[in-house]
Amino acid sequence: MAAGKKLRICLVSSEVAPLAKTGGLADVSMALATYLHRAGHDVRVLMPCYDTIDAKSLIIVPVDFLQNIPISIGSRHGKYSIDTAILPGSDTPIYLLRCPDLYNRGKIYTNDADEHRRFILLSRAAIEMCQRMAFSPDIFSCHDWHTALIPLYLKTVYQWDRIFARTKTVLTIHNIGYQGIFSGDIIDDIGLHGAEGQLHQQDLGQGRINFLKTGVLHADQLTTVSPTHAQEILSDEYGMGLQDLLKARRSSLAGILNGVDDAEWNPATDPLIPKNFSAGSMAGKRVCKLALMDDLKLSGGADRPLVGIVTRLTGQKGIDLMEASLPRLLTERDFNIAVLGSGEPRYERFFESLQRAARDRVCFYRGYSNKLAHWIEAGSDFFLMPSLYEPCGLNQMYSLMYGTVPIVRQTGGLADAVQMVDPAKGSGTGIVFRDYNHTAFNWAMNAALDLFGNRPLMKKIISNGMSQDFSWNRQVNVYVNLFRALSKES
Ligand code: ADP
Ligand code: GLC
Repeated sequence: MAAGKKLRICLVSSEVAPLAKTGGLADVSMALATYLHRAGHDVRVLMPCYDTIDAKSLIIVPVDFLQNIPISIGSRHGKYSIDTAILPGSDTPIYLLRCPDLYNRGKIYTNDADEHRRFILLSRAAIEMCQRMAFSPDIFSCHDWHTALIPLYLKTVYQWDRIFARTKTVLTIHNIGYQGIFSGDIIDDIGLHGAEGQLHQQDLGQGRINFLKTGVLHADQLTTVSPTHAQEILSDEYGMGLQDLLKARRSSLAGILNGVDDAEWNPATDPLIPKNFSAGSMAGKRVCKLALMDDLKLSGGADRPLVGIVTRLTGQKGIDLMEASLPRLLTERDFNIAVLGSGEPRYERFFESLQRAARDRVCFYRGYSNKLAHWIEAGSDFFLMPSLYEPCGLNQMYSLMYGTVPIVRQTGGLADAVQMVDPAKGSGTGIVFRDYNHTAFNWAMNAALDLFGNRPLMKKIISNGMSQDFSWNRQVNVYVNLFRALSKES
């Protein structure tokens, strides 16, 4: 393929913001699609049309030749349709896979017995959509376990179709902690028609089928969402059982740091925050902090440091370290905490009890709120992400852009995006600690609170952070170069 030639890409994801989002996968799918489209590539994005999607924000147009298409998954026969819409806030077209039977469940992911079928359909419908549109993709861009069967389908069930003769598959691993592991009984639903030998045989022998592992075996190219994590997942500590397969495929594995969509996350233009600000004009940040404290009923005024947390409440996010340290730290040091999140009940209970013990210093908003997420980024002095593992992480980058100093553990994209403060040189952008234990966590929290007391240094560190460039404009080119190199191979 000649350099500069526009690519044809089919991007398939279980989440695309703002329509369906549980975490960063949605932000990244949206941004990648939008920036590729903006760069002139022909991107066809497919996602499920969940009943949770706010249809009022969309003009949905049925694609006339993609209505009521019959499909069989194992012994079940059904129909699906594909409609089109424009992603709100962009001019990116998107295709919505409508199958109420599978996607009207009141939430994006379920523990229902047919969860595998919901994403088998997504994967097969993406391939069949290309066939029916006579769209011959250079690249299938697959994301996480939900779409990880696509590479195998293209090599087997759909291999006869010459439309895919030059198609390459790229599987992006956003979260290796979720692999889509099902009982071997679903083998007929996968429907490989004689090509079952291409599944991981040892797993099958043990009665399991692992969707992500299948993708790792069969995708032409693997990526994950930061260079450090691409190294980490080769190790026993972070590979979550896939490390040996990943090591065998090491030459086809790349780590590409996510970007920030500055149409949504930019303190100078953000319509969701009380007052805009920028590196050259920081007065608005103080206004945001005071408004946030007022809204969350936190005491102490602007002089008391405010630590923000916005996260899914899962083991991945290092909440155990907070449990072990924050109650005592709150008695030892003067600071406030604003928490937004929901997830595992034991972590929700922890933040509820932290809030009960010091209501004027801790506010826990249990739930999901995009507006409050923006306020916390804009109004906090520090942003806490002590993750056990973090493939990339977006909030540390949002924080740097919003003049909010990140406190992070040195893992994955946190290690790649945040540099430890060096007081002697005035360099660095945040507080970085290495070991996953409460001593290291305490050290980091104390270092952050000490930094707050050193106003000139704090100002310098904030300005270092705000001058970083995490834009998708740059990162999308890394994907394009990778896609082009792959296309040239065929
Ligand atoms: P992950 O995908 O592992 O959850 P990321 O840092 O990549 O972590 O992305 C999380 C995204 O989800 C960010 O955009 C963050 O602001 C958002 N988010 C997480 N929890 C909430 C919540 N409770 N309310 C609003 N936004 C949230
Ligand atoms: C995942 C990871 C997170 C990453 C996001 C988007 O859910 O946990 O670190 O930023 O995907 O790639």
